[in-house]
Amino acid sequence: MQMDEFLGLLKKRRSIRRFKPDPIPDGYVEKIVEAARWAMSGGNGQPWEFIIVKDKDTKAKIVELADKNDPLRWAMEKARIEEIRHPAWSKPPSGQSGFRDAPVFIVVCGDPRTWQATVVCGPYLRGDGSPEGTFIMNMANAIQNLHLAAAALGLGAQWVSVNSTWQTSLGLLLGVPEGFIIPVVVPVGYPAYEPSPPYRRELEEIMHFEKYDWSKYRSPEDIYQFVINLRQRTKPHYKSFRIGES
Ligand SMILES: Cc1cc2nc3c(=O)[nH]c(=O)nc-3n(C[C@H](O)[C@H](O)[C@H](O)COP(=O)(O)O)c2cc1C
Repeated sequence: MQMDEFLGLLKKRRSIRRFKPDPIPDGYVEKIVEAARWAMSGGNGQPWEFIIVKDKDTKAKIVELADKNDPLRWAMEKARIEEIRHPAWSKPPSGQSGFRDAPVFIVVCGDPRTWQATVVCGPYLRGDGSPEGTFIMNMANAIQNLHLAAAALGLGAQWVSVNSTWQTSLGLLLGVPEGFIIPVVVPVGYPAYEPSPPYRRELEEIMHFEKYDWSKYRSPEDIYQFVINLRQRTKPHYKSFRIGES
């Protein structure tokens, strides 16, 4: 693969939050999970496992679990100053999760005990944060690969974070072993809309040569302004987030 092709794939991948119900071709899910299998992980611990959900009723139950948290999420988000609220929560939720129509949900789970594969000082001393930090980084690598593979196949995917309020119920629903973590559900399917243009910070803003260039350091006010500007840029995109919202 040429570099331009690789960069093209990275730019083509977007978070998609509403899907057509059309099924995806046989074998695509296996290709997507195959991509995740090749992700990097500390000490090659490979904590990840993937539950492929296509059953209509099970998918509906997953969406219900996700949506049940809306009042809590809204209550927490509205405690923030309006201009920096996450764009998905700029107003009270009035509909159901847009991802509900995706033909396939990939429920990503993992076994945190696998952190032991890495050198013990890695998670404790070298900045990985903790065994949990190592585990989560490993999982994130696999999840990113899932998304890239979906994009390579012309599909859309969403990173639906599973928070602690519905993780246990989701685990019970799917019979996931106790102690496993389910960080994310990835609905996959054909996008129901064209996403707005992506935004990334410019290369020169994030690159430093030889030493940290302090002229690029952002003050707390700069970061605050950054978030406000980000909200303005991304708000239109989040309009597609929930069914029933305009
Ligand atoms: C740690 C993490 C958590 C995320 N959680 C969610 C989420 O719960 N729901 C969602 O729709 N997108 C979620 N995203 C996707 C980001 O919102 C998205 O990647 C970002 O806005 C950039 O847009 P793009 O993916 O279209 O380039 C998450 C991404 C990451 C890496």
